[in-house]
Amino acid sequence: MKNLQGKVAFITGAASGIGLGIAKACGRAGMKVVIADIRQKAIDEALPFFKEKGWPVMGVQLDVTDREAYARAADEVEKTFGNIHVLVNNAGVEAPMGPLWKNTFKDYDFIMGVSFTGIINGILTILPRILAHGEEGHVVSTASQSGLYVVPGAALYCAIKAGTVGLMETLACDLKGTNVGASAFCPGPVVGNLSATSKEVRPPELQNDNQETVAPPPPPPTNMEKNAPMFDFSKLLMTAEEAGERVVRGIRRGDLYILTHPEFRESMQEKMEAILRAYPDQPLKPEFRQAFSFLTQNPIYKTQTQVPGPDWN
Ligand SMILES: NC(=O)c1ccc[n+]([C@@H]2O[C@H](COP(=O)([O-])OP(=O)(O)OC[C@H]3O[C@@H](n4cnc5c(N)ncnc54)[C@H](O)[C@@H]3O)[C@@H](O)[C@H]2O)c1
Repeated sequence: MKNLQGKVAFITGAASGIGLGIAKACGRAGMKVVIADIRQKAIDEALPFFKEKGWPVMGVQLDVTDREAYARAADEVEKTFGNIHVLVNNAGVEAPMGPLWKNTFKDYDFIMGVSFTGIINGILTILPRILAHGEEGHVVSTASQSGLYVVPGAALYCAIKAGTVGLMETLACDLKGTNVGASAFCPGPVVGNLSATSKEVRPPELQNDNQETVAPPPPPPTNMEKNAPMFDFSKLLMTAEEAGERVVRGIRRGDLYILTHPEFRESMQEKMEAILRAYPDQPLKPEFRQAFSFLTQNPIYKTQTQVPGPDWN
C-alpha cells in the first residue's frame, strides 16, 4: 500500500507503547489516526500530541474482546473519517511467566481473549469493510519475535504470538488478488508498558492470580563476570516510535513479516536448521511434492524481499 496520505488507520492498544508509536508514525505519514484502546484516560493523554501537530485523530474507547462494541466503534470511525484502510491489531496483555501447567483456565481465557481472539474480532469486523469499499488497504497484527523463537517459561505468550504469525501468513495468502495486504509484526524488545497496563486491565477476579508475568524477560547474566557493573539493558530497547516507523515501512512495502532486530537472524537460522534436521533422512517419493502441491508449495514466502538497513528513509 504505497499511498498512505489521507487514509484511515484503526490501531488497537494505541494509547501506549508500540501502538502509540505506530499511531505517531501513521500520523507522520499523513494518515487519519484512530486511537482505539480500553483505557479512556490513556486515550485522553495520547490525543494532544496529534492535535498539537495538526494531525487528524480520534480516540475510541474499545475493549477488543467486545464484538458488538467493535462494530459500533467501526461505524463511529466511518461516520467521522470515512472508509477505514489500515487495521493494526496491536492490543495485548502479558502472560504469566512459568510452566504452562501452573496457569489457570481463567487466566488463559482472559489472555487468549485479548491477545488472540481480539485480533480475530478486529479482522472479522474491519476487513470485510475494507474489502467492500475496494480502495487499497492493509492489516497488520502485532505478534512478537517470541512467536518465531520461543522464550522458556512463556508458553502461553509464545503460543499466542506464533498463532498470530500463522494467522497473518494465511491471511496474506487468502488476500492475494485483492488490493489489501497483510503483515505479521514481530518486534523484539521495544519500550512499552505491557506489565503495568496488563495489571490495570486485568479483571478484578483475576487480580490475585499469577502475579509473575512476562514481557520481555530480562536477558540471563550467564557470561557476565562476577561483580561486573550492571549493564543497562534498557539502552538496547528500540523506541516505540522507531518500531512504529518500521510498521509503516512494512505497510508501504507490503512485507509479510515486519521485523525489528537483525540480532535474531542467527537464532532463526538455528531454529530453521533444527526443523530441517528433524525430517527423516530417507529417500523422497518423486511425485509427492507435485501431488500435494497445495501443502508443499506456497508462493507467499517468495513475496518477502530483503528489507533495507537503517538508511531506508
Ligand atoms: N514491548 C515489547 O518489547 C514487545 C515485544 C514484542 C511484542 N510486543 C507486543 O506489542 C503489543 C503492545 O505491547 P506494548 O509493550 O506496547 O504494551 P503497552 O502496555 O504499552 O500497550 C498495550 C495497550 O493495549 C491496551 N489494551 C489492553 N487490553 C486491551 C483490550 N482488551 N482492548 C483494547 N486495548 C487493550 C492497553 O490499554 C495498552 O494501552 C502487545 O501485543 C505485545 O505483546 C511487545
